[in-house]
Amino acid sequence: MAIEIIATGKAAPPRRVTNDDLAQGKWGGAVKIDTNDEWIRSHTGIGARHIADEGIACSDLALEAAKQALSLAAGWDGAGERDAAIAETALSLDFIILATATPDYYGCPASACVVQDKIGAKRAAAMDIIAGCTGFVYGLETAAGLLSVRADRKRALVIGSEVLTKVVDWNDRGTCILFGDGAGAVLVEKTDNPAGKRGLLRTILGADGSGEEFLAIRRGGTRNPWKAGETVDIPPHLEMDGRAVYNFAVKAVTETINNLIAEEGITIDDVAWIVPHQANARIVQAALKRLGIPEEKFFLNIEEYANTSAASIPIALDEMNRGGKLHRGDLILTVGFGGGLTYGGNLIVW
Ligand code: UT7
Repeated sequence: MAIEIIATGKAAPPRRVTNDDLAQGKWGGAVKIDTNDEWIRSHTGIGARHIADEGIACSDLALEAAKQALSLAAGWDGAGERDAAIAETALSLDFIILATATPDYYGCPASACVVQDKIGAKRAAAMDIIAGCTGFVYGLETAAGLLSVRADRKRALVIGSEVLTKVVDWNDRGTCILFGDGAGAVLVEKTDNPAGKRGLLRTILGADGSGEEFLAIRRGGTRNPWKAGETVDIPPHLEMDGRAVYNFAVKAVTETINNLIAEEGITIDDVAWIVPHQANARIVQAALKRLGIPEEKFFLNIEEYANTSAASIPIALDEMNRGGKLHRGDLILTVGFGGGLTYGGNLIVW
């Protein structure tokens, strides 16, 4: 038995905002950001981000990414009814797992349930995962576990979807320039192929909750609930200690790659692609220098999308898949880190 990714999809809002657009106040937001293209590129590798319009929520982007993955799995070739192909494949789903830090609603319902309804996945259970930017890595392992424990379970949709531009503080240039909106989805199937030869080989998951305050939205949960008529002393925005997260991230990426390879008994030469969480190109460069891995092994698309948190790895996988970069049998290593703090990685035979 193997747990294989059989299709991918992604969604990015059409509004593309460059670094210059932010600096010149030409991005549709209320403020002109005190920044410039040179600073953002040299400190992060980001050139642009996609920003969702008013009224677009997490499940809307997730839905589009899900539809793309389902129509690919259905073999939809551009002719005939796309919706019918999607609806039929959706009925084959046992689970929808959606990783996000920016759900439609806090607490409930899960955004995965909204997607479940809209694609008509009537047989599927649905839930969200909160594991910060590592959410997709957690989600894939969760799907594999859930599919493995019962013979009659066959398929799961794992989605990462974020609308971070709605929770950043647009007056804080240290964070607002980093994030973008988007969603990525993979369709996972339990097949009869031998374990260890195809699909998900191994996953490492970890957390260090002592870093809870380094990346947090403090207002709105039960720790600091909204109160009628209050003076807002704790902001409702994403707050981040950039330096602390940076140091954690370099260590997490380096150790996760080393540990995955050591546990699997392989070398880095056996790995075709490393797909890191796209938070900052400098984090990747610092890690690859420590590991002595050539830069070409890392897939980076942060220049176009900025940091889309739990969506960044599945967006990357979809771009690689549709761009012809992934070949059957290739060994892919994903590695993520983020709020929680959390970290982890998957080794996947494509
Ligand atoms: O998904 C996981 C989430 N987060 C991360 O992975 C983030 C990890 N951290 C980072 O990527 C980096 O810490 C940042 C990119 C956020 C910041 O880079 P840095 O090199 O640590 O910059 P800094 O915060 O120390 O700021 C250096 C200078 C400051 O000016 P002064 O005090 O030296 O005069 C900032 O005010 O850069 C200034 N600065 C900016 N300048 C222009 C900060 N943000 C900006 C900006 N444009 N957007």
